[in-house]
Amino acid sequence: MAKRIYIETYGCQMNEHDSEQILRLLERSDYLETKDAQQADLILINTCSVREKPEQKVYSALGRFKKLKEKKGTIIGVAGCVAQQEGWRLLERVPYLDLVVGTHAIPSLPQLLEKVLTLGEKVCETDFDPEGRYLDPFLPERPLSSVKSYVTIMQGCNHFCSYCIVPYVRGKEKSRPSQEIVEEVKCLAQKGAKEICLLGQNVNAYGKGMKEGIDFPELLSKLNEIEGIERIRFTTSHPKDLSEKLIQAYGSLKKLCEHIHLPFQSGSNRILERMNRGYHRETYLEKVHRLREVCPSIAITADVMVGFPGEEEKDFEETLDLMIKIRFDDLFSFKYSPRKGTTAAGWSDQVEEQVKQQRLSILQNIQKEITLQKNQALVGYLEEVLVEGHSKQNREDVTGRTRTNKAVNFKGDDHLIGCLVLTKITRAYAHSLYGECITTWKKKDPLRGKPDPDELGLLEGIPS
Ligand code: SAH
Ligand code: SF4
Ligand code: F3S
Repeated sequence: MAKRIYIETYGCQMNEHDSEQILRLLERSDYLETKDAQQADLILINTCSVREKPEQKVYSALGRFKKLKEKKGTIIGVAGCVAQQEGWRLLERVPYLDLVVGTHAIPSLPQLLEKVLTLGEKVCETDFDPEGRYLDPFLPERPLSSVKSYVTIMQGCNHFCSYCIVPYVRGKEKSRPSQEIVEEVKCLAQKGAKEICLLGQNVNAYGKGMKEGIDFPELLSKLNEIEGIERIRFTTSHPKDLSEKLIQAYGSLKKLCEHIHLPFQSGSNRILERMNRGYHRETYLEKVHRLREVCPSIAITADVMVGFPGEEEKDFEETLDLMIKIRFDDLFSFKYSPRKGTTAAGWSDQVEEQVKQQRLSILQNIQKEITLQKNQALVGYLEEVLVEGHSKQNREDVTGRTRTNKAVNFKGDDHLIGCLVLTKITRAYAHSLYGECITTWKKKDPLRGKPDPDELGLLEGIPS
């Protein structure tokens, strides 16, 4: 009889993707996913250590499963970035834990599990793998349940921003050969993927250090040709390495969606230097300007931090100034959180928690208003939506995203899932839009995010 695996995931899309890969890999060893931890033979917690809060989640999650271990002997493991960072310390600290699987060790999971089961040993594998076997994908054998798929194109990071744990837990930058990526995307398209999101800590660094002589924009061009794929996205790109060639790709590649996630972290040059980000606010503003010149409808989102060591009121004001100048479509904002082993964690000028909280609230309130205004500006306009599934709030509605990555809900049924639909936006909220379906949209002019003029004849009475 098949065994059951329950997996809980915290962290970035890379971790989400790793969990998906773990499920595909263990399916080959006869483990099927369950959403109910009580039914599981194996519980895995796939975790994030980028800030203290997500790191603490692993301990509260493990606490919840202690009883199950005592009652049923369920095997319990931790994977991901906390596993990589803590290694054996996790096994020492949590006596009922069986297994620790580092970020490069996922392909060895079946063997590690076998060791736990047959020898009853506790197992920890956190070596980095210079060969890059951890980058080989486990391709789907069955049709995909989702229209969106993630594809790792590179992993690791060589930047060493002074606050960041990622280079320590994911290792050095390593890219995958482009032919393998193309084959993977073709396979995903055959299994029903309509949209792919390319993953890497710094996708702009794609190709560096490879004999192949390819860069990220060239990879995008290759993927743009693959039949069945309608949309291409990527995350995350670093402002320092955002090349003019990549900016130009927004003007020439039809499938590349008009959205970029471009973390800026701070608007103050003094803080950017201390963060070791490798760019100044002027460069950031200039790159955004160029992106908007080449692709006027592009949506820009970013990550930003408040309360970095030494951040003074005037630095914070420069951050607010930059975000007001740019008017991001959305922002992911965080309080700086010292990470053991990173340079900035050892600095003496840490900012008080209360000040961090105050700055975060001010910043988030301003952004909330900007996001809402940007959403409101779309009311009355047409947007192409790729329908992903039913809305969680209302079973009569379906949900999908615009090319600019904004969520749109509208009345519709199952047959629309996986279709590109033209919607007219009727209402705007802080985190989503509401619309009505105009037509399933065959022809389009994706560069403008507006319908092809030839098609407008079919759509009388609709604002262009
Ligand atoms: N590779 C991406 C970021 C990955 S981490 C990049 O370079 O942009 C995701 C986000 O977490 C970062 O953009 C940053 O805003 C935030 N972050 C990273 N380390 C942090 C820390 N120590 N404290 C608070 N936020 C942090
Ligand atoms: Fe972390 Fe900086 Fe690398 Fe991003 S670029 S993963 S923030 S070290
Ligand atoms: Fe977190 Fe690891 Fe991603 S630390 S942000 S899960 S790379």
